[in-house]
Amino acid sequence: MKRDFISIDNFSPVELRETLRLAARLKKARNTPLEIRPLVGRSMAMIFEKPSLRTRVTFELAIVELGGHALEINASSVKLGERESVPDVGHNLERWVDLVTARVFRNETVRMLSDSMQIPVINALCDMEHPCQAVADMLTVEELSRGVFPKVSMTYVGDGNNVCHSLMLICAALGVDFRVSTPGGYEPDKHFITRANELASGSGGSFSLFNDPAKAVAGAGFVYTDVWASMGQEEESEQRRKIFLDHQVNSELLSHAADDCYVLHCLPAHRGEEITGEVIDGPRARVFDQAENRLHAQKAVILKLLAPDIAAEFAAGEIA
Ligand code: CP
Ligand code: NVA
Repeated sequence: MKRDFISIDNFSPVELRETLRLAARLKKARNTPLEIRPLVGRSMAMIFEKPSLRTRVTFELAIVELGGHALEINASSVKLGERESVPDVGHNLERWVDLVTARVFRNETVRMLSDSMQIPVINALCDMEHPCQAVADMLTVEELSRGVFPKVSMTYVGDGNNVCHSLMLICAALGVDFRVSTPGGYEPDKHFITRANELASGSGGSFSLFNDPAKAVAGAGFVYTDVWASMGQEEESEQRRKIFLDHQVNSELLSHAADDCYVLHCLPAHRGEEITGEVIDGPRARVFDQAENRLHAQKAVILKLLAPDIAAEFAAGEIA
């Protein structure tokens, strides 16, 4: 049966750990003679309804470096659901390519694409989740904390959005002490709160919600933030700038976190809004490590979906 990666929840906690191990091995093997190229002759179609730098570049490089081929479908010419129905687009694509990656406005669109095809679908960001970002983030956290997730404490400060939802699930699955602070009314979706609590109770992790960022970051080893207005919410930007002001990640807020805390941001960043220039350009930030890790994380996800046996062997160290 085909597998998707539309939500972090599509992979079990064990599979998420395997994906991270595979990503770490692929990172180490990059540009060496040992690098594996198992996807020769395989192709991936990419549809982006919203802008992208990191996701767009790293998805294409990921499949090309694994031996395959990527093609971008111009979303403004395909007009998913307008020029033709989403299922009809899917019925066509599955006749030509092996995998579809989609960045869409609505979660329902990526699910409809999946339901219409027998090939895997990867969510490259929608209104509900950004699962590939979360895998790259945890690869970065694993590198910085030497792989001991149950001892990691991370606080997400800002909007309870797509990036926050995927982080909630992956942190809960991996046993992280994860806290979220948002202004009142901007909390994460209830479904993700319920799932994060369920996953945390199985992993030994914890999940808690705050409306006070200073309390939420107390002693945290990682402080994570994202834009206050996501793509598609531009008309709310001005209002949100006022509402989120006390949720800015700045030096004063970090004085409540652990002395050696790291600062993470999925990018793009708005200096002077959700994070100050001093912090994002300062010694605690690891944002470009996160961006680099998008490549390795997505290679691992693609390989798990298209060549699970090779992925398992490589992750276990049986190849190379
Ligand atoms: N972090 C992230 O997804 O970046 P892009 O929007 O540039 O792809
Ligand atoms: N929450 C942001 C993430 C961008 C990578 C957005 O959806 O625009």
